[in-house]
Amino acid sequence: MLDLAEIRRYAQTYFAESTGCHGWDHTERVLALARRIARVEGADLAVVSAAALLHDIGRREESASNGTCCHAARGAEIACQFLSSQAVPPEIIQRIVHCIAAHRFRNSLAPESLEARILFDADKLDSIGAVGIGRAFQFAGEVGARLHDPAVDPANSRPYSMEDTAYREYLVKLRYLKDRMLTATGRRLAAERSAFMDTFFTRLNDEVAGVR
Ligand SMILES: [Fe+2]
Ligand SMILES: [Fe+2]
Repeated sequence: MLDLAEIRRYAQTYFAESTGCHGWDHTERVLALARRIARVEGADLAVVSAAALLHDIGRREESASNGTCCHAARGAEIACQFLSSQAVPPEIIQRIVHCIAAHRFRNSLAPESLEARILFDADKLDSIGAVGIGRAFQFAGEVGARLHDPAVDPANSRPYSMEDTAYREYLVKLRYLKDRMLTATGRRLAAERSAFMDTFFTRLNDEVAGVR
C-alpha cells in the first residue's frame, strides 16, 4: 500500500542541491531512529517511515523564502499531493501528513498521534549526542564561526556570526532538547545522548583552557 522505495526516491529529489547539516543524510538518520522508536512504542511502522522520509521536503521553499514559509506546513501540503497521486487511502495520507505538519512543534500544531510524537522525537534526537555535536560544528563552519569561545554570552551573541559556535548552540538550545521529548523511548535515548554532549563540552572547555 505504501511504497517506501518510491517515497524515498521522490523525497530525495527535494535535496538535490542540499548540502551540509540540512542535507539528505539527516532524513536517513531520522528514518532509522523513528523506526527504532516505533518498534518499541508499538506504532504504525509504515506511517512513521513515510512521514520520516517526507518530513523535510518543504525545507527548500522555507530557505528560498528566507523563513517566511514554514517547512513543516509546506512539506505537509506537498506530501499530501504526492501521496494522493500514489493512490494511498485518504485516511493513511491524513495520518502521514499530520506527522509532517506537526514535526516542528514550537508554538504551532502539536503532535496528536503516537506516530507524530515519534517523528518529533527522532527529529530532535538527531540534533543531540555525537551526531548533534557533529552537526553543530558543521553548521558553525558553514557560517564561518570560531571553533570555540568558552566565554560566549548566549544572550549577547548573534546567530549566523563569528560568535555562532557549536558551544553557543549547545548553551542556547541543544542541552534543553532532552526535556522536550514526547515518548518514553525518546526520553531515554535523549537522556543518554545529552549526557554524552555534556561530557564533550565540559572536556572541550578543559582542553581549550589547557588543563587536560
Ligand atoms: Fe524539519
Ligand atoms: Fe528534520
